[in-house]
Formats: sequence, C-alpha cells, structure tokens
Amino acid sequence: MLLLLLISLLISLLPSGGTRSTFSPARPPAIPLAVKSPYLSTWLNAGSKGGNGGYLPGKWPVFWNNQVTGWGGMIRVDDTSYTWMGGMQPPQVNQVSFQYTSTKSIFVLDVAGSVEMTVTFLSPITPNDLKRQSLVFSYLNVDVRSKDGRNHEVQLYADISAEWISGDRSATAQWDYGVTGDVAYHKVYRQNQLLFSEIKDQAEWGSWYWATDNVETLTYQSGQDKTVRGTFANNGSLPNSQDTNYRGIGDNWPVFGFAINLGSVNASTVNTLFSLGLAQEQAIQFSGASETALPPLWTGFFNDDLAALQFFQGDYSTASSLSSDLDNKISRDSLAASGQDYLTITSLSARQAFGATQLCGNSTKSYLFMKEISSSGNINTVDVIFPSHPIFTYTNPLFLKLLLDPLFENQESNKYPHNYSMHDLGGTYPNATGHPDGKDELMPLEECGDMLIMTLAYYRRTNDSAYLNQHYPILKRWTEYLVEEALYPANQVSTDDFAGTLANQTNLALKGMIGIEAMAVISNLTGNTQEAQNYTNIANKYISQWLTLGIASNDNPPHTTLAYGQDNTHGLLYNLFSDSELGLNLVPQSVYDMQSNFYPTIKNNYGVPLDTRHDYTKGDWECWVAAVASKSTQQTIFNLLATWINTTPTDRGLTDFYLTTTGNFPGNLFQARPVMGGTFALLALNQ
Ligand SMILES: *[C@@H]1O[C@H](CO)[C@@H](O)[C@H](O)[C@H]1NC(C)=O
Ligand SMILES: *[C@@H]1O[C@H](CO)[C@@H](O)[C@H](O)[C@H]1NC(C)=O
Ligand SMILES: *[C@@H]1O[C@H](CO)[C@@H](O)[C@H](O)[C@H]1NC(C)=O
Ligand SMILES: *[C@@H]1O[C@H](CO)[C@@H](O)[C@H](O)[C@H]1NC(C)=O
Ligand SMILES: *[C@@H]1O[C@H](CO)[C@@H](O)[C@H](O)[C@H]1NC(C)=O
Ligand SMILES: *[C@@H]1O[C@H](CO)[C@@H](O)[C@H](O)[C@H]1NC(C)=O
Ligand SMILES: *[C@@H]1O[C@H](CO)[C@@H](O)[C@H](O)[C@H]1NC(C)=O
Ligand SMILES: *[C@@H]1O[C@H](CO)[C@@H](O)[C@H](O)[C@H]1NC(C)=O
Ligand SMILES: *[C@@H]1O[C@H](CO)[C@@H](O)[C@H](O)[C@H]1NC(C)=O
Repeated sequence: MLLLLLISLLISLLPSGGTRSTFSPARPPAIPLAVKSPYLSTWLNAGSKGGNGGYLPGKWPVFWNNQVTGWGGMIRVDDTSYTWMGGMQPPQVNQVSFQYTSTKSIFVLDVAGSVEMTVTFLSPITPNDLKRQSLVFSYLNVDVRSKDGRNHEVQLYADISAEWISGDRSATAQWDYGVTGDVAYHKVYRQNQLLFSEIKDQAEWGSWYWATDNVETLTYQSGQDKTVRGTFANNGSLPNSQDTNYRGIGDNWPVFGFAINLGSVNASTVNTLFSLGLAQEQAIQFSGASETALPPLWTGFFNDDLAALQFFQGDYSTASSLSSDLDNKISRDSLAASGQDYLTITSLSARQAFGATQLCGNSTKSYLFMKEISSSGNINTVDVIFPSHPIFTYTNPLFLKLLLDPLFENQESNKYPHNYSMHDLGGTYPNATGHPDGKDELMPLEECGDMLIMTLAYYRRTNDSAYLNQHYPILKRWTEYLVEEALYPANQVSTDDFAGTLANQTNLALKGMIGIEAMAVISNLTGNTQEAQNYTNIANKYISQWLTLGIASNDNPPHTTLAYGQDNTHGLLYNLFSDSELGLNLVPQSVYDMQSNFYPTIKNNYGVPLDTRHDYTKGDWECWVAAVASKSTQQTIFNLLATWINTTPTDRGLTDFYLTTTGNFPGNLFQARPVMGGTFALLALNQ
C-alpha cells in the first residue's frame, strides 16, 4: 500500500505527459544520433548539466561541441499534431523507452495512447566493407503502427535546418530540391565554399543531403522554420515549394521539410526511411610523399554525390544487417569477457571511435584520418590513435595500418626534422600537412613507444612482415631514442599532458622499455637477429632496474609509483597492457598481481583516479588497466565506469576525462574523443 502511494506520488511529480522512459542498458551522457565522421557528429545531450535526461522530443540535437544542428520531427494523428524530435511547437509525444547498441539508438514513443513510433538512428559501422564504411551518411528510420486496435489517419514530418552546413550562423546557405531514381532529396550547402576550413569545428565545404524515398504521398518544402513547420502542423502536408531567397543560416531560419501521408494506419508497421550526410569532393590536405588533396574514399566507388546518396538510401537492409552483425559480435564478446557492465561501456564507445575517422584516397592507396576531437583538433595524433587502437585491432587491424600509414609516409619523406616520432600529422584537421618546422607538441618518449607498439600490434593480427621491413629504418631510429631516454625519462609530459610535466614517470618509462622489446621482436621477424638480441638485452636490463626504481615495495599494499622514488604516489599503470597485448612477457606476473590488488584500495565513487595529483581519471586508461587485471578488479572497474555512464551529470559525447568523486567534468570539456575506442582493450586482448 505504502509502495503504491509512493509510486502514485512519483507519477504525479513527473513533467507533462506521464510516464518516464526506460533507458537500456544505460542513460548515456549524450545519445549518439548521427555519429559517422568528424563532421557528421550529432548528439542528444542527456546528462543533467545541460541535457534533458535523454528524451528525443523537446530538445534540439547538437553537434558534438554543443551547437544546435536543427533536426526535428512531428506526427499528425487524426488531425492533431505532436512533436517527436526537437524543440517544436506542438505537444510532445511520450517517450516510453530508449535503447542503444554499438551502431543504433532506438526510441519507442507513444502518441496519445493511439499510435506507437519506433525511431531508429543508425550510423553504420562496417569494418570489413570499406565501400560502405567510407560513406559519410547516417540513417533515421521511423516505424509507425496503431497500438489501440483502431485505425488512425497519420502524417509524418521531419526536417533539418541549415545549421548543419557551417559553424557560422551568418554564413549564406544555398539549397536545392531534386529526385534521383527513387530518392527525393534536399541539398543544402554553404554558398561561399571554404575548402578544408572549419568554423567551431563544423566543415565549411561540401554539400549536405537530406533524403527519403520519393513515394507518391511525399510532399516537401523549403522555407522559414515557422512557415514550413506551421504548414505541416495545421495541414498535414507541404506545398511542394521552394524558397529561393538564399540567406544566412540564422536569417529567418531556412528549414528543409518532408511530409509523408501514411494514410490509415492499423496494427501493421508502416516504415519511413531518411538519410542524412555530407559529400565533399576533397576531404584532406595531405603532405605525404607528395603534397596532395585527398578525396574521400567513397568517390572511388561512386560517380558522384547523387549516386552515393541513392545507393545509401537503397542500402538500409544490408547496412542495417551488417551493423547488427557487429552489434552482436561486440555484445557476445563483451558479455563473455566480463558481463553487462562491460557491454554498456563498449557499445557506447563504438560509434564515437569510428565517428572521429574518415577513409580517404582510392582503392590502390587508402588512408584513415582521425580528428583529435575537442582537445586540440590535431589530425592523426599518435597518442590519441594509441589509446583508441584496441577497437581497430579488434574490428579490423587494417584500420590501424591506414591510420599509421600517413604518419610513416610523411616522416619517411624526411618532412619532420627530429629523430623521435612526431606528435601528430598537423595542428588542425583536415590539414595533414605535418610539422616541417619540428614545432609540434613535445611528447617524444610517448610517441616513439606508441609507434613501435602499434606497429607490432598490427603485425600480430596480420602477419604482415612486409610492413615491418618497409618501416624498419625509422622504427630503428625511434628505438635508439628510447634506448637513450626510457630508463630515466626527462622532465616532460606524457599523453596525459593536462596533468603537467614530471621527471622519471614510472608509467612512461615502462612504455619506452616495452617499445624497445617490441623492436627486438620486430628485428627478429625481419631477420635482424643481432639487433634483436641487443634490444632484448637492453629492454630486460632496463626492466630489472625499473622494478626497483618504480615500485613502492614497502607500502601496504605495494604498488608502482607515479615517479621514481616517490613512494607516496601512484597512478594507473596503463602501459602494462602493451606487454600483454604484444605477448612480450617482459614484465613479471608479480607486477600485474600487485597492481590488480592495489587499484580497488584507491577507488572513489565513480572510478580509480588517474594519479595522486588529482581526483580525476581517464575512462580509456581505466579500461586498459582493467584488461590486464584480475577478474574481480576488472569487474570492479567496469562497474564503476558503467555506473558513471548511467548517472554522470556530464552532458556531451562520452567524455574520457571525469572526476571520480562527483562524476562531473574536471573543467576541461573533453568530449566525443576517439580514445574511448580503448574500452575495447579486453576484447583486443582476448583475440
Ligand atoms: C587548412 O589549410 C587551409 C590553407 O591551405 C586553410 O585555408 C584552412 O583554414 C586550414 N584549415 C583549418 C581547419 O585550419
Ligand atoms: C492543405 O492541404 C490541402 C490538400 O491536402 C491543400 O489544398 C491546401 O492548400 C493546404 N493548405 C495549406 C495552407 O498549405
Ligand atoms: C493494415 O493496413 C495495411 C495497409 O493498408 C493492409 O495491407 C493490411 O491488410 C491491414 N491489416 C489489417 C489487419 O487490417
Ligand atoms: C590513388 O592515390 C594515389 C595516392 O594518393 C595516387 O598517387 C594515385 O594516382 C591514385 N590513383 C588513381 C587511379 O587515382
Ligand atoms: C639524428 O640522428 C643522427 C644519427 O645518429 C644524427 O647524425 C643527427 O644529428 C640526429 N639529428 C637530430 C636532429 O638530432
Ligand atoms: C599468423 O601466423 C601464425 C603462425 O604461423 C598463425 O598461427 C596465425 O594464424 C597467423 N595469423 C594470421 C592473421 O594470419
Ligand atoms: C646495441 O644498441 C645500442 C643502442 O642502439 C648501441 O649503442 C649498441 O652499439 C648496440 N650494441 C650492439 C652490440 O649492437
Ligand atoms: C631520475 O631519477 C634518477 C634516479 O633516482 C635521478 O638520478 C635523476 O636525477 C632523476 N631525474 C630527474 C630529471 O629528476
Ligand atoms: C629471437 O629469435 C630467437 C630465435 O628464435 C629467440 O630465441 C629469441 O627469443 C627471439 N627474441 C625475441 C625478442 O623475440
């Protein structure tokens, strides 16, 4: 009785319209809607900081950096209009449930108790199908059915605004409407194209397509937001007209609407599919062996934008089924490896990691470019590829090679003046123009270790020994650097540069030593047996010293330190993962056991701190240490992270950087970064 009273009290306190939605497997900080490339990256903020809890109707979707990318939907049922997506006028439908998989975000919505909508946002991930993976497009699929046993007259509406085409709301938009084959589309683009340019991280070049099937009951309109939306809300259809007064994105906000009259809807599902994406002729400015403007890879598979669009809109059943294959693989493997908490983490990270990349070039010479989203905008940052790389070795190691190739090509063309590895391939995506002046962020030990480890990780999954031979000289040069610098690391930053510089970092030294041992293996595999012997001798000598220098053996329980000799410090020893990943056995099992026993003793509400300097942590590195921890420590860490995902007040694309105490941002808003591909560390290890 008391329980019933409590429940009815709770229900009476709910905002307009009744029941709360369920969220499965969790309520993410932000829900991925269309997350496919650095420029097709739209989310629904959910965390309490600025989100609405994860409800599709009522709030505008945003680009990863929080700029509204107008995307709205209405439905008319028996002459009454409702809003199902975005902040539009008509009353909102009721969200019943939300669910995510690795590639899909699925909302079930109730319209006045009479009609049920299932709205699926699918950003396909097809790691073994480069043609499909290369398309910068995403799906919105809407299923509608009667749920009360009666037939209902239904019309469906969806639009986008011009906010997708530029980060400058005063930039002039131009648009057009057309039909290609069975596909009707609005094309929207910046009138004054700015090749390779970004404003507020949005692309300032290329054409956006917003499309649906050209069915008989389709009507369309471009025009001012109030006009187009009002016409549908009042009338259930659009006048098939175009506003040709091309103007600023924010000048009487032009929107691009579709309305479909679904007619009399019964209990059978009626389906409407929309596609949304970006077509650019050139994607990346690349300084490799030569200076080139690289096309997106899809241009090699299709004659033009419209051919690509037509293919994509017609490909839903295949793209959806390939994506479900990946969903199922990740689900099966995550559950088997550690359970539901782990799956909650991996499945939220997949679109985010792939969505920071773009395939470029042609089928003879392909490349993968990655944007260091939100923290700097650098392109192919070595120490961002590094934490993310487990998702690529797990899904298709070719992607790791395609990420490393441009770095090798630039430096092997002598376009970088240092003997250590570069930090990134350019300060600002999409300009992969390198650092001929050598003035990139100084992180030399980190990057040399990363390159050696990732090169061998790629080999381990492919047996591509030609790759090792091809890059042997530069790998050797980077190893020489490690031999000089790894034992006593100079005062410098590691990849966690926000934490500041520090000398003799225990974890950084370990990376360098693992890098040297990786080179010993590479030397063997390429027939350089004397060098193999030399490098393995050095690595083993260093490790035996590190075991004394870097361990607080008198502490209870003992643990590695943050820096040599500082017994009262500690940190996540995430570089240990590479020893396991590469099967090196350089580090004794006792170190694994020691760290595994230690982490649970320093955990906070939402995770294990990155190190003793701060309360914050990194979600990617937590997953790296969990991957090589005991089952029980592993599950403790995954549980903390999954709990955090479900309850954090952060409201942006899954941050990797958060406070273990409150779960909030530590000030810096790291968001939607590809490093969360590192959550796949355990899956990569299990292969
Ligand atoms: C890339 O370089 C071009 C010049 O080649 C420049 O116009 C553009 O603004 C740069 N892009 C970014 C994002 O900095
Ligand atoms: C409403 O739709 C009808 C046909 O369905 C059309 O004749 C009429 O002009 C429309 N009114 C508006 C305001 O668009
Ligand atoms: C439901 O509507 C569809 C499409 O109009 C029709 O083909 C089907 O027979 C209807 N089903 C029932 C049970 O009335
Ligand atoms: C493919 O790309 C490579 C590297 O950018 C270029 O040299 C080559 O000409 C391209 N091939 C074709 C057929 O365009
Ligand atoms: C790089 O190493 C070579 C060979 O050891 C040396 O001659 C050269 O001076 C080094 N270059 C720099 C910039 O340190
Ligand atoms: C690589 O070679 C090893 C040893 O011959 C073999 O067991 C393994 O299956 C190969 N892996 C791949 C991906 O070809
Ligand atoms: C081993 O490698 C170190 C560092 O590159 C080098 O100085 C030394 O000469 C090498 N020793 C042998 C025996 O090759
Ligand atoms: C690193 O540690 C060693 C050994 O404790 C010490 O001699 C050296 O001064 C330290 N390096 C720096 C830069 O503090
Ligand atoms: C190199 O190969 C030799 C001979 O097979 C082996 O004894 C040695 O352990 C290998 N070294 C490394 C670092 O893999």
